[in-house]
Amino acid sequence: MRYFISVVGMVALFITSNAWADTSTQTAPTTGKDLYKAHCALCHGGKGQGVPPMFPGLNSKSVEVYAAMMQNYRAGNGHKVMVDMAKSLTETQIQELLAHIATFPPKQP
Ligand code: HEC
Repeated sequence: MRYFISVVGMVALFITSNAWADTSTQTAPTTGKDLYKAHCALCHGGKGQGVPPMFPGLNSKSVEVYAAMMQNYRAGNGHKVMVDMAKSLTETQIQELLAHIATFPPKQP
């Protein structure tokens, strides 16, 4: 039940998150952490652990590799979900996200 509530919470966050782009009343700076929570955590996990086998973790490759993957998605290559996701983000947002992804504890073998 708790899991269900948190999933619903995250979905709500995910849906409402697009709202900040145009709210001038938003004063808190948008950090990579906030962006990640709003756009990525639902599928890739709060600490980048992923949901295998459906959603890969973001804690097993170097951040340079993830950066290259994001650019590849942004260019329209690969999984549609990620292509749409990457295209909806600005270059700056992607840099902020990558900075946050770099803080995830590495996956234990
Ligand atoms: C709706 C679910 C979903 C959301 C939300 C999502 N992703 Fe993904 N992501 C996926 C799936 C599915 C794949 C695997 C794509 C494939 O098989 O090529 C993936 C793959 C990736 C990969 C490649 C990982 C690897 O090792 O192959 C990166 C990097 C990534 N996502 C980053 C992000 C970031 C950053 C965000 C937030 C801006 C995000 N994703 C949001 C579903 C999602």
